[in-house]
Amino acid sequence: MSFLEIKNITKRFGQQTVLSNINMNIEQGELVCILGPSGCGKTTLLRIIAGLETADSGQIFIDSRDSTFLPSSKRNFGIVFQSYALFPNMTVMENILFGLKQKKEMTSAERKKKALDMLNLVDLCEHQNKYPRQLSGGQQQRTAIARAIALSPSYLLLDEPLSALDAKVRAKLRTEIRALQRKIGITTIMVTHDQEEALTMADRIIVMNNAVIEQIANPHTIYNYPASRFVADFIGTMNFYNEGEAMRGIRPEKIKVVEHWEPHDIKALVKELEFKGAFTRIHSHIPKENSEFFIDLPSERVENMKLQRDTMLFLQIPEEHAVRYSV
Ligand SMILES: Nc1ncnc2c1ncn2[C@@H]1O[C@H](COP(=O)(O)OP(=O)(O)OP(=O)(O)O)[C@@H](O)[C@H]1O
Ligand SMILES: [Mg+2]
Repeated sequence: MSFLEIKNITKRFGQQTVLSNINMNIEQGELVCILGPSGCGKTTLLRIIAGLETADSGQIFIDSRDSTFLPSSKRNFGIVFQSYALFPNMTVMENILFGLKQKKEMTSAERKKKALDMLNLVDLCEHQNKYPRQLSGGQQQRTAIARAIALSPSYLLLDEPLSALDAKVRAKLRTEIRALQRKIGITTIMVTHDQEEALTMADRIIVMNNAVIEQIANPHTIYNYPASRFVADFIGTMNFYNEGEAMRGIRPEKIKVVEHWEPHDIKALVKELEFKGAFTRIHSHIPKENSEFFIDLPSERVENMKLQRDTMLFLQIPEEHAVRYSV
């Protein structure tokens, strides 16, 4: 039985349908990412799950109980939003204690201990007396997470918690949040529009576009077998080509570049070399199809092959890596 079940949720704002027939099940202890472009309905869905917004139709089951009309305060969710939303006039410690005040059964010594445990968990003990403005973005976000989990919620809802941070801090916090989530085993739903974030962090990814779910699967399946052209294009890069009646897709790193031409190989001309560090993305033109392909090769190989603009390449598309799409 699912821990959290969302059934046929539909939501309109005026004439606009923001969520159309959304269905999903979330298992205990899972970290699920809701991934999609700006405006596709991610935050609205999260707010409906949290009880901060009501759906026009559909149901939400929490622990098998119909909780569609359960007030937000009774849903036992910890929530962290994109903007840090810490109280600026309170220290880190006071911010965390603030939430704990509603736990009337705890003594103030117990609250203090709980807050310290939380700060330990997110590695902020030494900053406990600082005010938010004295913290880095990553530290502020860790404080917000500590505050959310201090109340031992059953679920953690994160709405783009890392989007305001720079790339290095984001990457570090991704790993930290994931490790923390595993450690306390909290069922987590995280909204993001960053595909890399979803691929590295999620047990499963829910890809949304335009008010609907396009695919739900683990990161490996989403990347290797994207169910629609939208998913293929939104996550990573996909080259599309026609084969008979069918439309097919191949990832840039799956294309084989061979040294000697054989019948059936595809001829391509190098148009641009985009150095990306460990690998180089080759922008190529295929005269026969009059189409463009991206090809990713290890940079070392590109150097060894002395590739440059207008070099002719011979390509093979391994059948097992080609994905088929209905047009
Ligand atoms: N209270 C509201 N009233 C009217 N329209 C709204 C309201 N909240 C959201 N919308 C509209 O609903 C759509 C989905 O908004 P939502 O915030 O869920 O998108 P999102 O996927 O979270 O986008 P982003 O990645 O930019 O945060 C948008 O077109 C938005 O303008
Ligand atoms: Mg949003």
